[in-house]
Amino acid sequence: MNKLTLIRPDDWHLHVRNGDILKTVIAHTANQFARAIIMPNLNPPVLTVDQALVYRQEILQALPADSSFNPLMTLYLTSDLTQDEVKKAAESEFIHAIKLYPAGATTNSDSGVSDLKGIYPILETMEQVDLPLLIHGEVTNPDCDIFDREKVFIESSLNDIVKNFPDLRIVVEHVTTKEAVDFVLAASSKVAATITPQHLMFNRNAILAGGIRPHHYCLPIIKREHHRQALLEAATSGNPKFFLGTDSAPHLTGAKESSCGCAGCYSAYAAIELYTEVFDQAGALDKLEGFASFFGADFYNLPRNSKSITLQQQTWTVPATYQVNDKTITPLKAGEDLSWKLLG
Ligand code: NCD
Ligand code: ZN
Repeated sequence: MNKLTLIRPDDWHLHVRNGDILKTVIAHTANQFARAIIMPNLNPPVLTVDQALVYRQEILQALPADSSFNPLMTLYLTSDLTQDEVKKAAESEFIHAIKLYPAGATTNSDSGVSDLKGIYPILETMEQVDLPLLIHGEVTNPDCDIFDREKVFIESSLNDIVKNFPDLRIVVEHVTTKEAVDFVLAASSKVAATITPQHLMFNRNAILAGGIRPHHYCLPIIKREHHRQALLEAATSGNPKFFLGTDSAPHLTGAKESSCGCAGCYSAYAAIELYTEVFDQAGALDKLEGFASFFGADFYNLPRNSKSITLQQQTWTVPATYQVNDKTITPLKAGEDLSWKLLG
């Protein structure tokens, strides 16, 4: 049996929700990862340091008793965020970043930012206190084709942000296009990106060919094959600008299998197995540990983990669903075979 041992990885982009869904999904993440950047797009969103600390307690309480998992909290950027709150966040050992959602770009982003220039004073403070900005990089203009929204955001907004705040650490979250990869490559070492498993595994046929597959629908939407190739090359290149962020985003099965299904793929149950399969198929298993366990920690100025995990090459079948009381979450690749399994 082929085995692979890695320093325990971290997930630098994760949705765990609250309430009953949190109780189901947090054990999956805690089984795989030492830490995760927790997205603040709850309903209502996490706007203040105090709210983030309350949410952190809820997450800790939902963890299995023996878990040492560490949730790294973020604030949701709105036009009401104050410079004092940014400074308070930077001083808190529990807050690690602020997340920018353009208003209406994705799930629970209604309170996001509609006037980017209006938040420049906040970005200036973040640059001064060295608190990272995490960006959902899509324009929300309804006239813009959904497959072009990331590329247009880079041209119309991201270029300007990076130019105006050269010392601000920025993560372009869940990059999905060659244009985004090229942008991050050309930018300074202050600019990095996360890459999800679904954007490495699939091109847009996975959403639409042979029928509509709602469990492959996420935002930014999965793009054409040449974009997938660019992401794969970036992830397996060993370049520390690219690191693991699952964007695992659980929704109840009924909310996805609907006439207007929610955006988000649930991958936390086997995130590291999914990435391992991708890196294995690309002949790049030697590049997995940097991507999954080192580069994100380095970017966030956090220590690398010291414990390790072991994966074994073994075929197993993904369950059709995971239970949330009397409802379910349907995982990415439900009912399909995976070729690696996390041991223990
Ligand atoms: C995320 C969610 O459901 O919270 N959905 C998604 O499709 N990725 C939000 C996000 O990260 O865009
Ligand atoms: Zn997300």
